[in-house]
This record gives sequence, C-alpha cells and structure tokens, in this order.
Amino acid sequence: MKTWTVAKIMASKGVCKLPCVTAYDCAFARLADAAGIPLVLVGDSLGMAMLGYGSTLPVTMDVMVHHTAAVARGTAEALVVADMPFLSYQLSLPEALRNAGRFLQEAGADAVKIEGGAFRAELVKALVQNGIPVLAHIGLTPQSVNVLGGYKVQGKTREEGNRLVADAQALAEAGAFAIVLECVPPDIAAAVTAAAPVPVIGIGAGPVCDGQVLVMHDLLGLGGSRPPRFVKPYAALAETVREAFGAYAAEVRDGTFPGPEHCYSASTP
Ligand code: KIV
Repeated sequence: MKTWTVAKIMASKGVCKLPCVTAYDCAFARLADAAGIPLVLVGDSLGMAMLGYGSTLPVTMDVMVHHTAAVARGTAEALVVADMPFLSYQLSLPEALRNAGRFLQEAGADAVKIEGGAFRAELVKALVQNGIPVLAHIGLTPQSVNVLGGYKVQGKTREEGNRLVADAQALAEAGAFAIVLECVPPDIAAAVTAAAPVPVIGIGAGPVCDGQVLVMHDLLGLGGSRPPRFVKPYAALAETVREAFGAYAAEVRDGTFPGPEHCYSASTP
C-alpha cells in the first residue's frame, strides 16, 4: 500500500498541510514522489503545459490515460489523481463510470478529478459507490473557460462565495475525498475551507486552504509564458535547459564534444 492513501489525505484535514503538484510523465513523477509530495495530479493542464494547446478542451481520454500510466509508473508513495478530460464525464453516468474506471484499471491511477459544483454530486456519489475515489474541482473550472468568459477570479460576490461553500459541502457529502478550489479571494477560500469536512486544496486561493497545488511547469519555471499572479516559481529550469542546449550546440559546432572520455576503445568492456 502507498504511504499516501485517500484515507490519509482525508485525515490530514486540520492536522498538516498538503503540498500537491501536477506531473505528466514518469521522470518528473519520480522526482515529486522522492520529494515526499503526497498527491500528484495528472492535470488536463498537460494540454497547455506539454502539448501546446491554448486550453484544456482538446485533451482526450486516450491522451490522459497514456500520461497517467507514465506518472503511475514513476510514483511509489504519492496518491496519483487523473483529471477527467472535457466530455469524458458530462454525457452520461455510464460513460463517466467507464472512463473513470479506465484510469484505475488501465493507467494505475488511485483516483480521478472532475470539475463542477453541487450539480456533480450525483456523479461523485456514483463514482465513489463504484470504488472510484473523486477529487472535486470548484471555483475557476478551466473546462468551462468559454462559459466563464476567460480565466477569471471566481467567488467575487457574496452570492458566489455562498455558492462555493454550498458546492464544497454537497461534493463532500456525496463522497469527494478532497476539493480543489481554484482562483478565489482568500476570505472566500477560508470560508470554503472552514465549511468543508474534507481537505480543500487551493490554487490561487490564498494561504488558509488545507493544501496547495501548482502546475509543475509554473513551479519549476519551465513554462513559456508569464505565469499567473498566484504562482511562485521555485526554480528557473527554462533558463537552465536553454543554457544546457546552447552549451551542447556550441561544443558540437566547435568539435569539443565528444571528447576522448566519451569515446569507446577496442578494450572498452
Ligand atoms: O489540470 C490541472 O492541472 C488542474 C490543476 C490546476 C488543479 O486542474
């Protein structure tokens, strides 16, 4: 059994904060796992971070299963959560169950994530009753970017704030083991965190949440564009990688790579 189970994540509420990251391949999943990250999310943000799309909407089940399986292979202790992509859970309950089940059966995920508030409670209940743990996602839900009119801060009015609290309670009651809360003001996040009986994992939701999640590329400084305000880059890997590629290219051009130490001789075993 992994160190980080759904039960342990749930029991962390009020006890310790949960640092979570996204990962999309085996190599980075291994590094996150070795760093002791409890929850690795194979986000559909991979559409933008890895595949160069402008949104998460073009990401398909097959792509998500492929990447989730790679992350699962690299993860010994962290809980692996697969993001259910756009249209994989909205059309019907049987289709949602089938698709969610693929993540556990084919890809080795431990749980799935779905976007949406109280109106997803029935789906959450059905998934959990059928053995599929669910991480819910409310606030800014990127699969609804076209309805929301952009990647905008949510919960700005009292009504919206109250709705987020009610959403979190309904999703927890339906069986969600934790809730991602994206892009809301800190006071609203505090109210949601206080009201929800399960861990609330914030992204752009201030410090009071029970945990934080960041997209790996933002956290590592690997992204191409300016990250959103809520991101703190903990490294500048894009710069490091650019420099390494540049140094390699220069040495190939001037003939200093490969050197004698990189060459085989007849006596090399
Ligand atoms: O797709 C994703 O990476 C996410 C996180 C930002 C929570 O949904």
